[in-house]
Amino acid sequence: MKIISGPASKPLAEAISAQTGYPNVPVAAKVFPDGESYVRLDGDVKGEDVAIVQTTCPPAQDGRLLQLAFMADAAKRAGAGKVTAVVPYLAYARQDKMFLSGEGISVETVARMLGALGIDNMLTVNIHSEAALSKFPFPAKTASAIPFLAQYFVDKGYKKAYALSPDKGAMYIAYEAQQVLGGNAGHLDKTRDRYTGQTTQTGRGLDVKDQTVIILDDIISTGGTIVGAAKILKELGAAHVFTACVHPLLIGDAAKRILDAGVEEIVGTDSVPGPYSKVSLAPLISKQLKGANQSA
Ligand code: R5P
Repeated sequence: MKIISGPASKPLAEAISAQTGYPNVPVAAKVFPDGESYVRLDGDVKGEDVAIVQTTCPPAQDGRLLQLAFMADAAKRAGAGKVTAVVPYLAYARQDKMFLSGEGISVETVARMLGALGIDNMLTVNIHSEAALSKFPFPAKTASAIPFLAQYFVDKGYKKAYALSPDKGAMYIAYEAQQVLGGNAGHLDKTRDRYTGQTTQTGRGLDVKDQTVIILDDIISTGGTIVGAAKILKELGAAHVFTACVHPLLIGDAAKRILDAGVEEIVGTDSVPGPYSKVSLAPLISKQLKGANQSA
């Protein structure tokens, strides 16, 4: 197998290549003056199975998706064998059903587009809803980075910290972290108005007084969920509040608002490269690729 370094995930792809021992294929990428993307695989993939590592996070989700499509097409034309798309953050995964009449199912459109290019498998990380995986016309899998995020806090001396999910539906995340942290786990309750996007959070019955609490989520976007959760935790008497997420989108001044709300540290992964990508996905993805290659 060879690892193709998508322009959006070059350092991660190189780390995966180093950890798996699979050779790295660099990609030459540019944007034409009119805004169109260009990619060229700078290495031989003839007869090789390949994994294309390309996250599709903001900014430029659409451009990054198209770069992934172009790389898959280029790999197939160059005679590659099986093509695995490794997409740490999968754009449009949250629109996995029609919430309101007149909408489409964006993730299904993405899935069909990738299928049409001859992609054979996809690996993503903590997809927002596993239901989205069923929209893909080829095997699509999600792996969890939550144990790695929890281990970050154990390494910093926060074993036994309280693992908190900001809503009941994501309680599985708190439970996964609890396995590593070894403390208590719980959740807030959150409801969202589908028209305004406005959310309401409550912390009924939560006992976090004098505790160190880590709020864990799959995505931090505007930061509203974490800011609201931090306020509730402070009111309930939590001693220290941290937050960790797999996909630190942190749009606009989200990080500042979270820190201003009393959260002591923001920890994310390199699914979204940036100042808060403190945990690398390379070990998780390397293990998945090695496992898939051995069982093929
Ligand atoms: C929603 O269900 C997700 O799990 C996250 O909680 C959400 O995307 C976070 O968004 P924001 O940071 O804008 O509150």
